[in-house]
Amino acid sequence: MSGKTARLSIPGAAAELELPVLSGTMGPDVVDVQALTANGYFTYDPGFVSTASCESRITYIDGDRGILLHRGYPIEQLAEKSDYLEVCYLLMYGELPDAGQKKRFVDVVMRHTMVHEQLQFFYRGFRRDAHPMAIMCGVVGALSAFYHDALNITDEEHREIAAFRLLAKMPTLAAMSYKYSIGMPFMYPDNTLDYASNFLHMMFGNPCEKTKINPVLARAMDRIFLLHADHEQNASTSAVRLTGSTGANPFACIAAGIAALWGPAHGGANEAVLTQLEQIGDESRIPEFIARAKDKNDPFRLMGFGHRVYKNFDPRAKVMKQTCDEVLSELGLEKDPLFRIAQKLERIATEDEYFVQKKLYPNVDFYSGIILRALGIPTNMFTVIFATGRTIGWIAHWHEMISASYKIGRPRQLYTGYTPRDYVPIDRRP
Ligand code: SDX
Repeated sequence: MSGKTARLSIPGAAAELELPVLSGTMGPDVVDVQALTANGYFTYDPGFVSTASCESRITYIDGDRGILLHRGYPIEQLAEKSDYLEVCYLLMYGELPDAGQKKRFVDVVMRHTMVHEQLQFFYRGFRRDAHPMAIMCGVVGALSAFYHDALNITDEEHREIAAFRLLAKMPTLAAMSYKYSIGMPFMYPDNTLDYASNFLHMMFGNPCEKTKINPVLARAMDRIFLLHADHEQNASTSAVRLTGSTGANPFACIAAGIAALWGPAHGGANEAVLTQLEQIGDESRIPEFIARAKDKNDPFRLMGFGHRVYKNFDPRAKVMKQTCDEVLSELGLEKDPLFRIAQKLERIATEDEYFVQKKLYPNVDFYSGIILRALGIPTNMFTVIFATGRTIGWIAHWHEMISASYKIGRPRQLYTGYTPRDYVPIDRRP
């Protein structure tokens, strides 16, 4: 509580409403409007632009200053000094692990990387050209069918084993969706490898020879997972929370998050960025696309630009750009035409009055696709990579909600439909 109150004078109410103002440790205060309903009013906030749906301690974003903290640690420091599984521990438990805690956590995750042998038959039901996100929505939701003995969400042990299973199996399922699409055999995990190297092994390895992993590329892959790990109450995390508030099992909740992430306005943007860069094709065509993005009569958007919260540079985009440089120079692709178009596009867009005035900066999706493409990952797998990295964020928010007291999420509406009217028999309708 802040001790402050907001006074609201409502037409027809006898007196002003006093609404409590709550303060967090950082960020804007919030007006607690729960008392409004008892006074016959709802709030109205399509897209939840001004609505805090919950209290959380996991991630803090300051959109104006381009700040992103995970449990208080700046994303830039974590990206430089930490690794994905250590950040997973941090997001789950709230503190960085000591050496023993980290080893135990990594060991448990790496011992749950295999999936039930029956799961492979789910893939056979899909066409080979099925979008891998369609496959992931299906197989992740189906995971609960294999763990009916550990789905009691009120049991802390069940919650923790579900978290480990999801964190450990997402890369396996993701790699399987890729292998299936190219008619190659599924690769079993190699638990002697680290998380990111194991993912690259399952993606690009084959049963006939030992997989050679380039450590620079594995480090880049780990950093991509890390940069996607969590992002406060974004659309897919809100979908996970809302699904979890009904008591649904964690596998169903994560499947809901995957489905929400798929949209091109959200996690699907990384795939859309690559498609758009390929459409631009040459630096000379950039002005044409900038003009379309500015044309109010054209629904065209410059993918990878803009953000609901960031009205400054997305700090993840800066780290992603550095990683892009590293990967392309490691692979001798510094002259990669798409990277050059992206760099030119960023320069032009961030100097253009329209983008400056609307505070449209590159977001996390702008450079990630170029790195993934350089790693040999096909464009339709980009959002699957995003979902794999974001799984820990979805789990952490689900766990935070379920471990505290919560109510089923049930928004209301401003109704503008018909007032009551009587049924008209079909032979008397106009
Ligand atoms: C992610 O929420 C998160 O945290 C998400 C995420 C995460 O980690 O979970 O960060 C991941 O989803 C990143 C965003 C990826 N999406 C894209 O790159 C798609 C392109 N961007 C836009 O669609 C848009 O910027 C959104 C969806 C990201 C944000 O939309 P908002 O906050 O609802 O803003 P808006 O659509 O109301 O746009 C405000 C204005 C509009 O113009 P006006 O109506 O005021 O005249 O800016 C314009 C928009 O037309 N605008 C753009 C634009 N983005 C916004 N114009 C051209 N190109 C764009 N990319």
